[in-house]
Amino acid sequence: MSFIFSIIAVTALVGVALAGVALDLRYFMAVVLPYAALATFVLGVAYRVLKWSSAPVPFRIPTTCGQAKGLDWVKTNKIDNPCSTGAVLARMFLEIFLFRSLFRNTRMEYREGGKVRYGSSKWLWLFGLLFHWSFLIVVLRHMRFFFEPVPGLIQAIEHADTFFEMGLPLPGPNGLEVSLPLLAQSGVILLAAATFLFLRRVVVPQVRYISLASDWFPLLLIILIAKTGIIMRYVLKVDVVAVKKLTMSLATFHPALPAEPISFMFYVHIVLVCTLLIYFPFSKLMHLGGVWLSPTRNLVNNSREVRHVNPWNPEVHFHTYSEYEDDFREQMIEAGIPVEKEA
Ligand code: HEM
Repeated sequence: MSFIFSIIAVTALVGVALAGVALDLRYFMAVVLPYAALATFVLGVAYRVLKWSSAPVPFRIPTTCGQAKGLDWVKTNKIDNPCSTGAVLARMFLEIFLFRSLFRNTRMEYREGGKVRYGSSKWLWLFGLLFHWSFLIVVLRHMRFFFEPVPGLIQAIEHADTFFEMGLPLPGPNGLEVSLPLLAQSGVILLAAATFLFLRRVVVPQVRYISLASDWFPLLLIILIAKTGIIMRYVLKVDVVAVKKLTMSLATFHPALPAEPISFMFYVHIVLVCTLLIYFPFSKLMHLGGVWLSPTRNLVNNSREVRHVNPWNPEVHFHTYSEYEDDFREQMIEAGIPVEKEA
């Protein structure tokens, strides 16, 4: 049901975008919607991150799976059981940029005779990594639409990402020019990796069983965003100069549709991207912000060295033994109970 619901939802979004083009709601789709989506994204992400950051973390709760720092002659596992800020930074870096825990993921299978077999499973790690990195590169490359002049870093990323030339040289209008559509690898890798992650949920019965609409929907949305982008770039050859006029007008807060027409596919692309932006703060995609704030990952495990006292514990009024003896000394002496201080 959740799968069918998600298919219907993304199909409806494409239908809405096409209807918007047919009804000439271009200004709404290319100006009003992007501003609204960006505002929702920024405010929503900020709200959730601030809320998480203000959650108290009085104790050390890192998940550990290696030897903690102890006696000098016992070897410490600094990455899995970080005992200093440097070790935590190394652990966070490996986790966030290389998905280290996913790399160590194992697969469990039941074999004949009820035997259990554990095996290495690196596919999810590989495609997960490809998916996230290519997504980042695609988004960074898109920044060329929003800056004039285009920053050197974005140009360098674009240059590195398009080192393959695709297609045959085509004669230009004057018969001399050639146009070579450059293959942007990150876009194609993004589509391939997102498709792998989607098919994994379809094909592996255990994963299919636990998949919800909140898993299917964002994957389908991202697949469609990548597909529409690829169609625009290599098939319809959208007028990127017109797109840049539009995006610069948005970036400079003087929104205006360009005089030149832009392909309907652009409007589908933009409606899907805006939906992703609006959906983002309310969804599991917030792991982008959460991974930095996870106390099971970002805390030093120094519970053996430092006593962490819960700051909002109520003050405890102790009744010490000497106070007790002061209260009952005479009765204790009468009953023959030894006392530390004589009356
Ligand atoms: C979540 C954000 C976005 C994703 C994941 C995404 C994805 C893609 C992908 C995969 C392509 C295929 C070609 C390539 O790899 O560059 C593409 C092309 C394109 N996208 Fe996006 N896109 C996003 C946001 C946007 C936005 C905000 C705009 C508004 C200007 C836009 C406009 C375009 C255009 C005009 C193309 C064709 C580019 C060309 O011919 O070089 N995209 N997009």
